[in-house]
Amino acid sequence: MNHFDLIDGVLHAEAVPLTLIAEAVGTPVYVYSTATIERHVEVFREALAGIDDPWIAYAVKANPNAAVLATLAKLGLGADVVSGGELMRARAAGIPAERIVFSGVGKTADEMALALREGIGQFNLESEPEAEMLADVAEMLGMVAPCAYRINPAVEAGTHSKISTGRADDKFGIAYDTALDAYARAAARPSLKMQGIAVHIGSQLTDLAPSRAAFEKVGLLLAALRAAGHAIVNADLGGGLGVPYDPAKPIPPLPAAYGEMVRDVTAGWNARLMFEPGRLIVGNAGVLLSRVIRVKEGVNRPFVILDAAMNDLLRPAMYEAWHDIRAVVPREGEMTAHVVGPICETGDTFARDREMDRVEAGDLVAFMTAGAYGATMGNTYNSRALTPEVLVSGKDWAVVRRRLPLETLIAGDELAPWLQQDQH
Ligand code: LLP
Repeated sequence: MNHFDLIDGVLHAEAVPLTLIAEAVGTPVYVYSTATIERHVEVFREALAGIDDPWIAYAVKANPNAAVLATLAKLGLGADVVSGGELMRARAAGIPAERIVFSGVGKTADEMALALREGIGQFNLESEPEAEMLADVAEMLGMVAPCAYRINPAVEAGTHSKISTGRADDKFGIAYDTALDAYARAAARPSLKMQGIAVHIGSQLTDLAPSRAAFEKVGLLLAALRAAGHAIVNADLGGGLGVPYDPAKPIPPLPAAYGEMVRDVTAGWNARLMFEPGRLIVGNAGVLLSRVIRVKEGVNRPFVILDAAMNDLLRPAMYEAWHDIRAVVPREGEMTAHVVGPICETGDTFARDREMDRVEAGDLVAFMTAGAYGATMGNTYNSRALTPEVLVSGKDWAVVRRRLPLETLIAGDELAPWLQQDQH
């Protein structure tokens, strides 16, 4: 559920009309709802009821905005980070280092050193060379790195191929069959403390069966590792639970069903369970607000041309993702249209043959469920500015990322010496 509703014919974020934000900040702009974020944290916690002291590490990549992270820090969440930049953001937002877990196949020695100095709670290692590098870095710093190996369970998650991570030939984790040897070699390094086991099979999961299969494998390995003498205390089950995008499609399993499956599979594990939800926490908590620049007649359909483009919301171009597009002030009637942005490639298409609220030039539309993997995947293609962001709480709202002036687009560029203009 979310807090974006029509009130007196105008789409609101909580108590704030989106028309007001569009007037004040301009479009395109992302708008997030605090109450929705809080609600999703509560629902996820309720779903995990009965699990002793779960470690919920929000996947920062889903939405790393400082105000969003600070909202989650206040609610006591930890963080799953995948770069030095995300680690810095999580710490700056007040997330305690010991609640931070560091994932990713390409951690560099510098990032490892940064994370060790910060004192993070766990490194999720994805290969043996990575474990060796971390052991060397920790040794040099005279520290011990708390670690888990991420296991590749070789399962088909049933989601979009680009966001499936647990198939045998995906780049993530170590092969199940090699795990016992890998743990033995890592445990031989005094600067590594092998305390956990981790898995994550993909994102926007709409079926619990592949997760269950992966968790069952983790359970088997957990027992085997303990039998081999490893003191494994943490089991990280990753993130990935899907959220509803298309009202016409069946809704993904509810957090409560996920929690029930987890309790069932992990009964008797006697480990601290860790979770890395991203989309589930922030997905429905954000919309991308955009204005119709013009409507152009097409051969088959009209083109609704927006001031938002694929650089603002990449998901449709990258994953054929479906986002509901609603008029902010609905008129009478409906239309079927292609909805596109101003960028000069056909991939800059948000929707084809979309049956939607009828809109005209100057109208505002909202892309729903854009809080996760929206602004964070934004870029400046076609020399368009990064999208600003607004956070709403009740009747209050604040710009939490400014729209930077276009000059900042070239602020980092330098002319090569031979191109510098003569002064006269
Ligand atoms: N943990 C790990 C190790 C991950 O790689 C991810 C997501 C998560 C947790 C969080 O997954 P979530 O709960 O948000 O599904 N850009 C894509 C999604 C990429 C997901 C990458 N990894 C999209 O827009 O659909």
